[in-house]
Amino acid sequence: MSVARIAVVAGDGIGTEVTAQARKVIEAVLPGTEFDDYDLGARFYNRTGEVLPQAIEDELARHDAILLGAIGDPSVPPGVLERGLLLKLRFDFDQYVNLRPSKLWPGTTSPLAGIKPGEIDMVVVREGTEGLYVGAGGVLHKDTPAEIATEESLNTRYGVERVIRDAFARAERRDRRHLTLVHKTNVLTKAGSLWARTFAAVAAEHPDVTTEYQHVDAASMFMVSNPQRYDVIVTDNLFGDIITDIAAAVTGGIGMAASGSVNPERKYPSTFEPVHGSAPDIAGKGIADPAAAILSASLLLEHLGHADEARRVSEAVAAEVASRTPGADLRTAEVGDRIATAL
Ligand code: NAD
Ligand code: IPM
Ligand code: MN
Repeated sequence: MSVARIAVVAGDGIGTEVTAQARKVIEAVLPGTEFDDYDLGARFYNRTGEVLPQAIEDELARHDAILLGAIGDPSVPPGVLERGLLLKLRFDFDQYVNLRPSKLWPGTTSPLAGIKPGEIDMVVVREGTEGLYVGAGGVLHKDTPAEIATEESLNTRYGVERVIRDAFARAERRDRRHLTLVHKTNVLTKAGSLWARTFAAVAAEHPDVTTEYQHVDAASMFMVSNPQRYDVIVTDNLFGDIITDIAAAVTGGIGMAASGSVNPERKYPSTFEPVHGSAPDIAGKGIADPAAAILSASLLLEHLGHADEARRVSEAVAAEVASRTPGADLRTAEVGDRIATAL
């Protein structure tokens, strides 16, 4: 039996470039891992007219985890691949915990003045299967002056409670044990109220975790003015999408931001992918930072129970990042090689 069976969906643009490095690193720390490549994304869609055939999804389901690069390409209308592949996997594989840690590693410079490495260390637990992402709503009178478009946010007590519980459990395992709920309860009074009441109810069971509430606009400000204040954040799908790009920007950039779309029960495979997209502006040039993809591989290893290997990988990334010369050109494959060799 193999150590782990991983489906690789490298995808579009820099997805293929950075995923090759992540795979190299997993091979270095976990020999015997089996990889199955799935050529999905823009090329597959343009060739077949399909995004994710059921038979392929069934095959993906039989893997321990999915290593994903990025999806999205200028040759395909926006949303076709993102909805049809990325979000479909999140929904169908019940990946309700979208885990996005952000740390300011030694050697990385935050664009924020006066912040030292180690001072920012937060994890955003973004809800992954509900909210505005469900695709509810519709369009009336399209292409007329009377056009109406609605997008509805779906929030269930079940879905909100399970992700809040996960966030409390994570906060409990960390030193600072602090959890911030981010929402917009002053305007989104229906969904916001559900989130706030559920948060309060679960908080009562966790007296060891200190809690705080912030509106998402204030949180976006603190994210750049005082990101040190955060430990664990729990929030809905869209707010989590937005604030994790901000969190990435203040901790060395989007090229270092890792994520996991996790089904904690392991009933279905979880997907591990960088926060960033396919970056059409730099695709094919070999200059994308593979750190985010490699750190996502570290999250994958941890999820599959290989905690030592996961720690070794993130430490190797940290060491490589610390050794970089500020301003020097970065080559994707060289970074991957340096990290894999160090391991
Ligand atoms: P993007 O993250 O692809 O790029 C934003 C900016 O960050 C670009 O300037 C890009 O060059 C830079 N960047 C991103 N990753 C980098 C890396 N590893 N190293 C260095 N620079 C990096 O976001 P976008 O331009 O808004 O989206 C492009 C496409 O990707 C769209 O089709 C979008 O839907 C898709 N997308 C996919 C995912 C995913 O697959 N998980 C995530 C986000 C966006
Ligand atoms: C991300 C991406 C996706 C999201 C898109 C591409 C569907 O931006 O993983 O952050 O919004 O979740
Ligand atoms: Mn995003």
